Amino acid sequence: MFPSVALLSLSFLAITYGQQVGTLTAETHPKLSISQCSTGGSCETLQRSVVLDSNWRRLHSTSSSTNCYTGNTWDASLCPDPVTCAQNCALDGADYAGTYGITTNGNSLSLKFVTQSAQKNVGSRVYLLSEDDTTYEMFNLKNQEFTFDVDMSQLPCGLNGALYFVEMDSDGGKSRFPNNKAGSAYGTGYCDTQCPHDIKFINGEANILNWTGSANDPNAGTGQYGTCCNEMDVWEANSNGAAVTPHVCNVQGQTRCSGTQCGDGDERYDGICDKDGCDFNSFRMGDQTFLGVGKTVDTSSKFTVVTQFLTSDNTTSGTLSEIRRLYVQNGKVIANSKASIAGLDAYDSITDDFCNAQKTAFGDTNSFENLGGLPVMGDAFAQGMALVMSIWDDYAAQMLWLDSDYPTDADPSQPGVARGPCPTTSGVPSDVESQSPDATVIFSNIKFGPIGSTYTS
Ligand SMILES: *[C@@H]1O[C@H](CO)[C@@H](O)[C@H](O)[C@H]1NC(C)=O
Ligand SMILES: *[C@@H]1O[C@H](CO)[C@@H](O)[C@H](O)[C@H]1NC(C)=O
Repeated sequence: MFPSVALLSLSFLAITYGQQVGTLTAETHPKLSISQCSTGGSCETLQRSVVLDSNWRRLHSTSSSTNCYTGNTWDASLCPDPVTCAQNCALDGADYAGTYGITTNGNSLSLKFVTQSAQKNVGSRVYLLSEDDTTYEMFNLKNQEFTFDVDMSQLPCGLNGALYFVEMDSDGGKSRFPNNKAGSAYGTGYCDTQCPHDIKFINGEANILNWTGSANDPNAGTGQYGTCCNEMDVWEANSNGAAVTPHVCNVQGQTRCSGTQCGDGDERYDGICDKDGCDFNSFRMGDQTFLGVGKTVDTSSKFTVVTQFLTSDNTTSGTLSEIRRLYVQNGKVIANSKASIAGLDAYDSITDDFCNAQKTAFGDTNSFENLGGLPVMGDAFAQGMALVMSIWDDYAAQMLWLDSDYPTDADPSQPGVARGPCPTTSGVPSDVESQSPDATVIFSNIKFGPIGSTYTS
């Protein structure tokens, strides 16, 4: 909860100008504790909080409760142009549990898929805030490991419970873009390597130019700008599979794109970011018995995911050279599965050699290496990356790239096409939203520190 003095000054600013702050609903960031560990394994608890991304928030006139955006349409009088819209419209506080199904308890965060209140909410995306409760916690994981527990027993085909890092501005763009008065405390400034066009405000301006409502999502649309930045997907998963995937861009920090830079459609490999990434998904790498319900890593109950970011000289300033993964479940350490695909050695981690071999074996375009590979991912960590946790369904590709055969017109016996056991008919948003509204992912016990400090066998 903001001290009342801060609330007063923010609402005063809201009357003047900017991508504003509304005060119809109080903004109270749910508390979440995490742990910072030291060599030897002792850990200190850090009291932190999470904030909901601004795109999910009610957006209304600074001077009344008239909405600036309803369904997938902008109010033409409040939003005649991008800057005026940012000045006229306020992002409001969120009822985290009641509207969005987001709850925390100690070190545990639960994200529920569909929440029905006055309106229906689908999915959510939250960011970890730092101690000051108004800027994002920024991580540099070079020569460090990052660990969390996940319960995705209630997360079926077509959903994605994701934990990842993106290179957002720590203040959500507030200082670089003076029209943005809301900043990280209201979850502004998102970017990732898909250069998403569905973000309502980019660089302190409303993304209303050429805004087009989505054909299949009644609450979403796309504007002519996208927002790009480096992205480290530590965990994209449901109970049928998981992927760890670095993606890089040839620009540093949050960058607005338009036209070819965004890499849309046929220009996928002409943009400034690597949309494919270099993924390690055990099923896709040839071990179909490793992770899933009743498998070696059994997704029917909670387990621990450890990710190690090794550098070439074993220092925090070195060049990122390898991303290693291991699991702990029921007190047992489980080594990552090994690749078993013709033309791929028995790799069990992500290195530039692995990425090159995998792209060759699968016949995929190697945009990850073309844009700099792991060293660039490490440079992004050196700048600092924000922690994101989300639950989502996929209006573009039904999550088939994660848990099924993809592309769907390719022969599933070809290497790289089979990624998980889900049917190619699964993951249709209207189906998963009506059949599994209570789907939930629970992330807990987040720890980071030197290699080997965050888990015990
Ligand atoms: C946006 O719309 C304008 C006017 O209709 C058009 O000239 C322009 O090419 C469009 N830009 C994009 C990126 O679609
Ligand atoms: C870094 O650490 C690994 C594992 O402990 C070791 O095998 C390697 O030789 C070290 N590299 C350097 C450059 O010190």
